Amino acid sequence: MKSHRLRNSILVIILLIIVFSIAVLLGAFRSSSIAPQAKQPLSADDMKLLVSKGRELVFAGDCMGCHSQAQGPQGAGGVAIDTPFGTIYSTNITPDKEHGIGNYSRADLHRVLRDGIAPGDRNLYPAMPFVFTHITTPDDIDAIYAYLMSIEPMNVPNKKNTGVFTLPVRPFMNFWTMLNFPDRQVPSEPDRSKVWARGAYLVEGLAHCAACHTPRNFMMGVDFARNLEGGEVDGLDIPNITPEMLAKRGFDVPTLSQYLSTGVAPQGTSFAGMHTVTHFSTSAMEQDDVDAMATYLLTDKNGKILEPSEPPKPLAAAAHPAPDSDMEVGRRIYMAACAGCHGMEGEGVPNVSPSLEGNAIIAMDSARDTIDVVLNGIPTERFTGYKRMYAMPPFSHRLNDDEIADLVTWIRAQWGGQAEAVTVAEVQKQEKALH
Ligand code: HEC
Ligand code: HEC
Ligand code: HEC
Repeated sequence: MKSHRLRNSILVIILLIIVFSIAVLLGAFRSSSIAPQAKQPLSADDMKLLVSKGRELVFAGDCMGCHSQAQGPQGAGGVAIDTPFGTIYSTNITPDKEHGIGNYSRADLHRVLRDGIAPGDRNLYPAMPFVFTHITTPDDIDAIYAYLMSIEPMNVPNKKNTGVFTLPVRPFMNFWTMLNFPDRQVPSEPDRSKVWARGAYLVEGLAHCAACHTPRNFMMGVDFARNLEGGEVDGLDIPNITPEMLAKRGFDVPTLSQYLSTGVAPQGTSFAGMHTVTHFSTSAMEQDDVDAMATYLLTDKNGKILEPSEPPKPLAAAAHPAPDSDMEVGRRIYMAACAGCHGMEGEGVPNVSPSLEGNAIIAMDSARDTIDVVLNGIPTERFTGYKRMYAMPPFSHRLNDDEIADLVTWIRAQWGGQAEAVTVAEVQKQEKALH
């Protein structure tokens, strides 16, 4: 009798779970946040008026950075985004009717950017940063729509995804969004300036800085409770860019703006994923918007814009290394292999190589990115205004793991205020890191 009842309740629970799962798969728990205004089409005149505003927002969202191949046509997609389960390709977002978004209604784009759902009820993968564009205002999405519809249509077919993404897995994204797609709002605080509010709107929304600068959970969902506290992408540790940490590394509003709009500042040059951001997005944005982002990023919880710290002083062990110590070995390697470009005092050479004194990467708690740069170098990059630097050469074949460990230990103690010695194991781990 008892076991009978137990069996029945288990059956009921299983049944409920099945019903619940089917409901999730069918999208029962996905609400839409599309504004009613999006249902009517925009007039041709409105569309014309909105184009220039939309262009700025498309730069802020780096839409073209992700939806264009390096040598390919603007907006025609085809950029590979590798995941452990297969490759997803960005799609054609030019107004081509066959392969692009030429048949998109105004509401279709609202649905993509606010809800993460493409026409035909196709749940988008979060490689498209809809978790962030969700907070974009309806008026701004209209402007983005007007701009995208005004660019040259490209008759370029979309690439086929690979791996698990060839299977009909889009409905399963409803489970992911249920857990990882919070209904975020634009940050707002009483008594903050318009500039701060603009910066908050861009940083937390279109510009999706947190996509790289925030840790992710095991489902690859953004851990918003630790917003901008640093993440991990493509084998690099992404720096913490909370106000306290930016100020600690010497940034103030002018230098942070300069960094975002040119890719070069006293704190160093942008490279890897950050170079893509400064190159395609922030350097193309209007100065007022960039200044607003810098203001927001440097304003602490109490509304105070933090004062920058002085660069860390060399630690005694690095400034006066004992003869034959690992520090002394590191110092000598620096003088032989690096000082020619970065200077005996780490002062750098304008337009040739960045200063290492006061460099933000060297001051990170994690040594990983410095190790990576020494191992793999940085290919020649272009910066705003046709500025170019030399390429940073790779040293993986010129220095052995021991030498790199000693070298990076010395640099971090000399210019980064970091006392902890870098181990050979850390260097070896980075040699195997995926790029
Ligand atoms: C970090 C890279 C990235 C950025 C930035 C990005 N996208 Fe995407 N986008 C993607 C990827 C990848 C897909 C394909 C996702 C999929 O297949 O589920 C996509 C899909 C789309 C689609 C759906 C197309 C369709 O019908 O299948 C549209 C529309 C779109 N993006 C517009 C934009 C706009 C507008 C912006 C700027 C505000 C933007 N994207 C920024 C990566 C990006
Ligand atoms: C041929 C000149 C040259 C030499 C030699 C060189 N570097 Fe660099 N280094 C550069 C340039 C140029 C960059 C910036 C590249 C860019 O971002 O485009 C750079 C970047 C860096 C960075 C990243 C910081 C930043 O702001 O971009 C670190 C760390 C670094 N170098 C350390 C070293 C160390 C350590 C050595 C010696 C093993 C060394 N470099 C040797 C030219 C050089
Ligand atoms: C695609 C990933 C990615 C995105 C998106 C991204 N960053 Fe970065 N960011 C990086 C990486 C990688 C570094 C470390 C390399 C370097 O310093 O260039 C970095 C470094 C930085 C630094 C240097 C700071 C320091 O203290 O070391 C700042 C400032 C910064 N990012 C701000 C931003 C802002 C603001 C945004 C949004 C507009 C943004 N990032 C978006 C990847 C990204």
